[in-house]
Amino acid sequence: MIRAVIFDLDGVITETSRQHFQAWKAVAYMIGVEIDSTVNESLKGVSREESLKIILKYGGILDKYSKEEMEKLCFCKNEYYKQLISQFTPANVFEGVVEMFEYLRGKGIKIAIGSASHNAPALISAMALEPYIDYIVDPGDVKRGKPAPDIFLKAAGALGVKPSECIGVEDAVAGVEAIKAAGMYAIGIGDAEVLKEADVVFGSIAEIDLGIIA
Ligand code: G6P
Ligand code: MG
Repeated sequence: MIRAVIFDLDGVITETSRQHFQAWKAVAYMIGVEIDSTVNESLKGVSREESLKIILKYGGILDKYSKEEMEKLCFCKNEYYKQLISQFTPANVFEGVVEMFEYLRGKGIKIAIGSASHNAPALISAMALEPYIDYIVDPGDVKRGKPAPDIFLKAAGALGVKPSECIGVEDAVAGVEAIKAAGMYAIGIGDAEVLKEADVVFGSIAEIDLGIIA
């Protein structure tokens, strides 16, 4: 029996993957690294600090930066990212999301946001989705980021449900891996060739067959 659905935010509820990519691209360019969409794929679902490390490693300059310099680069990325999402409104919510939330509410199924992003609460509020959400995981509260299960397990714990009673919804390879590691059913959003570990994959939230949930 399904009692909760835990949604990733970026690339699942709204299109922020492009803005994350744009901000990282600018920061990477500043330090002489050019990143493409393949590199971006590996950044999805990954924390800000880990993302920077992936970029530095890709550019072969991982050892060049001190902790303080890396903090500054992360700060820059986030300032630019916040600027890019500053105009977000309910119009930015992907088609099918509100319908899905209403369906789940009607069935008494809890809804949580399990995102690695520290910007998740601000975005949820800007898109007026707060009334639907029972819990938002603070990524600062968990030890390990995705692909570790911590974020999804934290959500289940906070909602008082067992992992086996949860569905996780993710667009990132690291996120799907985290859901499976948490012992939950994984719905992938995107390309089935990429999200190989997911139990089922749909092109978008709007395409999810609600009957598979409850
Ligand atoms: C999500 C995104 C990642 C991002 C991470 C941290 O998982 O998919 O691209 O790096 O959140 O986001 P933040 O807004 O805290 O930098
Ligand atoms: Mg995502």
